Amino acid sequence: MCEVSRPEQKLKILSPTRSSSFRNAKHTGLMELRVKRAPRIEAEITVPGDKSISHRAAIIAALSNGVCTLRGFLPSDDCMRTVNALRALGIQIEQPEPDVLIVHGKKRVLTPPSQEIDCGGSATTMRLLAGLLSGQTFETRLVGNAALTQRPMQRVIEPLRKMGADIVAEGPEQTPPLRIRGGALRGINYESPVASAQVKSAILLAGLFAKGKTTVDEPFASRNHTELLFNYFLIRTVKGEDDTISVFGDQVPESRDFMIPGDISSAAFWLVAAAAQPGGHLLVRNIGLNDTRTALLGVLVRMGAQVREAVEDVDQLEPRGVVEVTGGPLKGTVIHGKEIPQLIDELPVLAVAGALASGTTIIRHAQELRVKETDRIAAIAHNLRGMGVQVIELNDGLEIHGPAPLRGAKLACFGDHRIAMAFAVAGLFADGETVIQDSECVRDSYPGFERDLEEFMSPRRVRSSTPVIGTLVPAAPAEG
Ligand code: S3P
Repeated sequence: MCEVSRPEQKLKILSPTRSSSFRNAKHTGLMELRVKRAPRIEAEITVPGDKSISHRAAIIAALSNGVCTLRGFLPSDDCMRTVNALRALGIQIEQPEPDVLIVHGKKRVLTPPSQEIDCGGSATTMRLLAGLLSGQTFETRLVGNAALTQRPMQRVIEPLRKMGADIVAEGPEQTPPLRIRGGALRGINYESPVASAQVKSAILLAGLFAKGKTTVDEPFASRNHTELLFNYFLIRTVKGEDDTISVFGDQVPESRDFMIPGDISSAAFWLVAAAAQPGGHLLVRNIGLNDTRTALLGVLVRMGAQVREAVEDVDQLEPRGVVEVTGGPLKGTVIHGKEIPQLIDELPVLAVAGALASGTTIIRHAQELRVKETDRIAAIAHNLRGMGVQVIELNDGLEIHGPAPLRGAKLACFGDHRIAMAFAVAGLFADGETVIQDSECVRDSYPGFERDLEEFMSPRRVRSSTPVIGTLVPAAPAEG
């Protein structure tokens, strides 16, 4: 762990009173982001709480043996789906402020919901709840919006059935809605065909209710927030060779308060913007620096940005700290193999970085992007072409030819928050105006994105002289 000297004052660039780039398009009633070229970036920011950790902290606190206060909670549409689901399962949760939850844990006792649970567009909610509900003796029906109804659920259904849960997928090809009746589960040893933290977490949550030991092995390590939170709430896990993770059943989480760090996947939009602007400079404070989530930083270094990171606190097991990026002329890189699960949500904005970089950027082994909120490979290729970039769509990735003079364009985001935000960043580098249509989906993960975007377009100057140590040096791309 490195130490940094603390600044005298904490500066935020958020300013709710400023005019917003997030407009109501009168003709459709839907929202759109209007983006223009950014002036020189010199900013210091914080971002909202980590989405993955917010879902998990709420669930584990609900299973605990008392009251837990969660601060830094992300009050996004997706995370609120999980909160409301837990309420429907008999858990009292107060929210005195948008980012504070007081969860009254009931020692693993959940009660049958009076109606089906609506997961909205949140696959994390549905997959994690599938694991949790597999351990309950009552039946629950999980439904979602049209996009979630297309998402693959076989990946959680198969292992949970092996553990003894009775799960029916009502949609074609094992898609939602799901009907789940759990009960007496048995621990399994599961070799997951996909590196997915949602799959791993669903199995581990079911494992808490199973007899004996439940072990998950995955092809490449995915984010480990469930494991870390289990440990923080005093649930014993065992890490085996080759990164397998096991949990024993019959454990009750010990109630504790927890502080959720800022989401590096949200900060990624601004980190890429600063990295791609020679001389641009950005400091992000209170950001989660879990090393299963920071692969983005290594890629930016490979591409030519200067990146410094410093972990300031690991007391609650999730490392948090600061990241500082200074932009440079970027060059293309290859992103593939074991790096992919550790930056899966950052790939849309890294593709934009690729368009701004000289040479070719290749993304491979990222077929998971095809089953996210939209087919992100197709969406990225479509929108990059719309801005004048030469791009080749591959089955499992993209080949992007830069540097492209980006043309402002009217773009769709396909209901996908990360596509909307990635192309808002592209708009910061484009000639003319870029309009991201139907962009209300940014609230799925980043409420307030539009205000932060406004600050990058029309900043109030904020300088930081905070020394940050621990410069990352360029390393070769990950081995496949
Ligand atoms: C998440 C895991 C990732 C990620 C998603 C959130 C999580 O999905 O893309 O945004 O919280 O576990 P997969 O587990 O499907 O890769």
